[in-house]
Amino acid sequence: MAKKVEVSVTVNGKAYSAEVEPRMLLVHFLRETLNLTGTHIGCDTSQCGACTVMVNGEAVKSCTMLAVQAAGCQVTTVEGLGEVGNLHPIQQSFWEKHGLQCGFCTPGVMIASIGLLQQNPNPSEEEIRDALEGVICRCTGYQFIVEAVKHAAQLMAVDETETGNALQIGEGR
Ligand code: FES
Ligand code: FES
Repeated sequence: MAKKVEVSVTVNGKAYSAEVEPRMLLVHFLRETLNLTGTHIGCDTSQCGACTVMVNGEAVKSCTMLAVQAAGCQVTTVEGLGEVGNLHPIQQSFWEKHGLQCGFCTPGVMIASIGLLQQNPNPSEEEIRDALEGVICRCTGYQFIVEAVKHAAQLMAVDETETGNALQIGEGR
């Protein structure tokens, strides 16, 4: 058995430390060590995007990164977006615009969408489809997802105007 190493990481604003095998993937660390099972595993080829989380403000497929590489980072998973009664605009939009069916891909799609909106607050339909190319949805046909992301862009713009809060998540160390 490989010697374990200590990893300290902040996830959804809370500090965690744990001893892990150096080969442990970030997605397994989140799901198995921290019990944050909202981040899904949909493939073993790094293609589906179901495992997408924010690492220091960038959307990352957490099956392509080792837990030890996240040491010292700020990670945001779907559990850190919002809660009942106080949804993040992306959650509100996916709900209002029916941007999901079975919901398996949804955590990854929402995080990837936030990554896009942080870079490009007013994306065109083509830009949304381009940005979400790396996340596979087997149910929706994508049209309602695109509508949801467009709506989220509007909600986030309103929120920024009203509160000055651009809803950046998981940035910085
Ligand atoms: S689990 Fe499919 S890309 Fe990570
Ligand atoms: S909603 Fe079922 S995989 Fe996307």
